[in-house]
Amino acid sequence: MKQQLEQIKTAALEAIEAAQNSADCENIRVKYLGKKGELTAILKMMGGLSPEERPIMGQLVNTAKAEVDAALGAKVNEMNAKATELKLQQETIDITMPAKVSKTGKLHPLNTVLGDMIDIFQSMGFDVVDGPEVETDHYNFECLNVPQDHPARDMQDTFYLAENILLRTQTSAAQIRTMETRKPPIRVICPGRVFRADEVDATHSPVFHQIEGLVVDKGITMCDLKGVLEQFAHEIYGPDTKVKFRPSFFPFTEPSVEVDVSCSECGGKGCRVCKGAGWIEILGAGMVHPNVLRSCGIDPEEYSGFAFGIGLDRLTTTRYKISDIRLLFENDKRFLDQF
Ligand code: PHE
Repeated sequence: MKQQLEQIKTAALEAIEAAQNSADCENIRVKYLGKKGELTAILKMMGGLSPEERPIMGQLVNTAKAEVDAALGAKVNEMNAKATELKLQQETIDITMPAKVSKTGKLHPLNTVLGDMIDIFQSMGFDVVDGPEVETDHYNFECLNVPQDHPARDMQDTFYLAENILLRTQTSAAQIRTMETRKPPIRVICPGRVFRADEVDATHSPVFHQIEGLVVDKGITMCDLKGVLEQFAHEIYGPDTKVKFRPSFFPFTEPSVEVDVSCSECGGKGCRVCKGAGWIEILGAGMVHPNVLRSCGIDPEEYSGFAFGIGLDRLTTTRYKISDIRLLFENDKRFLDQF
């Protein structure tokens, strides 16, 4: 029996030595130490021994069991340690590697300034409306008091797509579309692209942006126009900005003005940004011409209004001190990344 015990123990230890993985170890445990295992079976055979032999044999079996158990435990520990080691090796992170920079998109400077302008006008109760870029002569000129052969047509070089179909030269067409669909009181702005057949240079582009504004109600006067536009200029350029209203001419407004603000760069002394003038022209405006109101079915005896057209590109170049308007349209990432 002793011999048998010795054999089982040796076999068990050899098996443990040869085990490859935790499943092998578990099989060995069941085979030798389990309820029906070989070492357990030997204990059960002890009934046939004499009372003197029994405790001696019992002790031997228990020692053998403990030995096998310890060897198995050591093997399992060894395997776990190896597995951990392997995992750590595989998951090594080189913390000296440069990090991946993930770039996020940003707003184009024109959109940033446009967003600010919309906020300012919305806070004064204006709605934002949209109009088509391809317009008819009717909306872009006729209804705006500029009939065929009117000399004012020369003020804007127009891209014609077909007879009487053109790329809008001004967002003012939106005034008409608005008055056709809304009844006074009206308070809207219409931002958008406009097109003129201009030569391209640092201050001119055949595509640029305007924000048209229109207010029509009973009792609207030039004072309302001045108040709204002054407030706008102060919010965009700062409260110390001086605002100058110069008489001007537009066929669809009477009287008409152009609005200059004191140069925010030099405070009015004259510099490169304002080309020595001390002032920067930012918009045209005026009281809506009675003919325009009439062409939209609004009685000029009952209602009056004012309109304005702000150049978004000029506002953007002066705010960010951009020296060439072309930069706004070239989509050069080196330029855009600066905003
Ligand atoms: N549409 C004019 C322009 O493009 C600007 C303007 C708009 C003037 C509204 C008066 C009223 O020059």
